[in-house]
Amino acid sequence: MNEDGFFDDRVAATYDAEVGAARVDAEDPMVRFLAGLAGGDPALEFAVGTGRVALPLARHGIPVHGIELSRAMVERLRAKPGGSDLPVSIGDMATTRVDGRFGLVYLVFNTIMNLTSQDAQVACFRNAAAHLRPGGAFVVEVMVPRLTCLSPGNPRHVFAASEGHVGVDVYDLVNQGLVSHHYVGRGAAVEHRALPCRYVWPAELDLMAELAGMTLAERWGGWRREPFTAASDSHVSVWRSPG
Ligand SMILES: C[S@@+](CC[C@H](N)C(=O)[O-])C[C@H]1O[C@@H](n2cnc3c(N)ncnc32)[C@H](O)[C@@H]1O
Repeated sequence: MNEDGFFDDRVAATYDAEVGAARVDAEDPMVRFLAGLAGGDPALEFAVGTGRVALPLARHGIPVHGIELSRAMVERLRAKPGGSDLPVSIGDMATTRVDGRFGLVYLVFNTIMNLTSQDAQVACFRNAAAHLRPGGAFVVEVMVPRLTCLSPGNPRHVFAASEGHVGVDVYDLVNQGLVSHHYVGRGAAVEHRALPCRYVWPAELDLMAELAGMTLAERWGGWRREPFTAASDSHVSVWRSPG
């Protein structure tokens, strides 16, 4: 892997098409949810990527700043309408500081899991809290670990299976890790990519928030504020700084 990590030129080139970035507009439930929490204040996106979320949020009238590790992803953001106006700091979201205080810091699409140690995830929560104005909100969207989908002795979970893409998560139950394997069809060839992750439970995230001085305010099963239940695959959680 180069300095861009997993999200190098090759991944960045196809990212938007693969995740359906064009479907996210200013009226998307996720964008409306985030805009509502920001109020009129500026927002900070950790791991802003190609601006899939930040650009529609900015079109919603919220000034957005991004932090992002991969220059290749930011190049894609820059090439989009409005992309050259969106300030981005290149760096690690667990440690990079930007000027100003924000009403909202957000980290979506399972990306907290890209920090592969508990220390780094805790540092990320502390970094979010350090950027919030009093009473500001930190939002994380992340999957619920699928341990109930594993059969005894088999740590693999097939989370995607279509003609062009097979996705297999391989869990490391001892170290609370997983490697997300993607097999992507490219004509007659199949490309394999492996993304190292650390899975994390809602209760552990709440403890990380508490260590960073924040308190759980909301937890939902999705961006439309669906109830979070035992059947939820993922959650959208909101912690607030005091004040
Ligand atoms: C799944 S993409 C999400 C991008 C964007 N937030 C979205 O929702 O489309 C994950 C992004 O996180 C970035 N990333 C991974 N680890 C990071 C870190 N430690 N600091 C900053 N960015 C990071 C990657 O480079 C990539 O752009």
